Amino acid sequence: MKLIHKLLNFVLPPITVFAICLILPFLSIFKFFDYIFRYLFPENLKGKVVLITGASSGIGEHLAYEYAKKGANLALVARREDTLREVANKSAQLGSPDVLVIRADVSQVDQCKQFIEVVVNHFGRLDHLVCNAGIGFHCAFEDASNVTNFVPVMDVNFWGSIYPTYFAIPYLKRFKGKIVVNASVAGWMIQPRVTIYGASKAALINFYDNLRVELARKVSITIVSPGFVDSELSRGKLLTMRGEVEVDPMIRKILRGIPFESTRECAKAIVAAASRGDKYITEPWWYNVLYLLRILCPDMLEWSYHLLLSTCEIPLERD
Ligand SMILES: NC(=O)c1ccc[n+]([C@@H]2O[C@H](COP(=O)([O-])OP(=O)(O)OC[C@H]3O[C@@H](n4cnc5c(N)ncnc54)[C@H](OP(=O)(O)O)[C@@H]3O)[C@@H](O)[C@H]2O)c1
Ligand SMILES: *[C@@H]1O[C@H](CO)[C@@H](O)[C@H](O)[C@H]1NC(C)=O
Ligand SMILES: *[C@@H]1O[C@H](CO)[C@@H](O)[C@H](O)[C@H]1NC(C)=O
Ligand SMILES: *[C@@H]1O[C@H](CO)[C@@H](O)[C@H](O)[C@H]1NC(C)=O
Repeated sequence: MKLIHKLLNFVLPPITVFAICLILPFLSIFKFFDYIFRYLFPENLKGKVVLITGASSGIGEHLAYEYAKKGANLALVARREDTLREVANKSAQLGSPDVLVIRADVSQVDQCKQFIEVVVNHFGRLDHLVCNAGIGFHCAFEDASNVTNFVPVMDVNFWGSIYPTYFAIPYLKRFKGKIVVNASVAGWMIQPRVTIYGASKAALINFYDNLRVELARKVSITIVSPGFVDSELSRGKLLTMRGEVEVDPMIRKILRGIPFESTRECAKAIVAAASRGDKYITEPWWYNVLYLLRILCPDMLEWSYHLLLSTCEIPLERD
């Protein structure tokens, strides 16, 4: 038994590399024409039904506007009903024929089951499920006074996408629908102070990659990785362990040199990608360079963080 693993260790890598070199050119040509086709014939969203969680602010809000401009019916879910109503009002003005506002907490499984049912009863169908609701969280892992303080991040970011997906799948399959899920560059990038946040997003990426295989093309899944998109949050406004909004000095220092993309541009790119049925979208596109670095040269990232951390005075955040 030991021998067979030794043998595989030895032969498998060269065989794999050889196979990749053989297949890659054909695969690239196929993917190129497939992309051109999807680019030329994107889904017509007129009259379709789109459910967006976390639609009361940020990118979720702008996703509502972009879908509205394309004539889709909307169901908007978040906890703040008054802000949702304003978004709904503007979406209707932008061209959405029918907008439903639902107050719900995506981390509660019963509420997720209920809002999917409400949407299907109202519209009779569901075409796109956009799992966008999420909370940001920056804190050095050691600084948490109680490790259970991290649990809500997983509850909202991970389970808050999984629950609605579970209840929506039967309808999405029936209407050849799509799932758009909000991950983050933090889901695959190495970064300090986002351990749990990054883990919640990495879990989403892995989950939806596997789900895509299980659903075997009956439902298309687009995984979104937004980088720094201009919002109050990306200007340094973050939730701390105490649940207060504070400005993280290190984030602000890093952010000084980074150009932001507007929420509107980002939302536009996401709706276009979903209509084409892209598997992944990283927005802005140049963040893909970081992916290369992360795969090929993670040591370099680590060194630069050590350098950054040592030049930056970071006050301890204790709750
Ligand atoms: N902006 C960027 O550059 C960027 C890029 C990648 C990732 N992110 C992440 O985005 C996070 C904050 O961005 P933002 O300013 O757009 O935040 P935000 O305004 O709070 O947007 C999050 C949305 O999710 C909803 N939501 C939160 N918890 C919910 C729950 N339990 N149930 C239902 N809906 C819920 C919120 O609505 P309600 O509060 O009304 O429920 C809101 O509509 C940060 O953690 C950051 O790491 C940002
Ligand atoms: C939308 O807002 C405008 C102005 O604030 C108001 O006049 C209008 O009645 C609202 N429409 C709906 C459908 O709530
Ligand atoms: C992604 O989720 C974050 C919270 O984790 C939210 O602030 C942001 O607006 C979402 N972005 C997209 C593209 O859905
Ligand atoms: C951590 O917080 C949880 C929930 O608030 C509480 O039940 C638990 O006793 C706390 N644990 C410690 C070690 O403080």
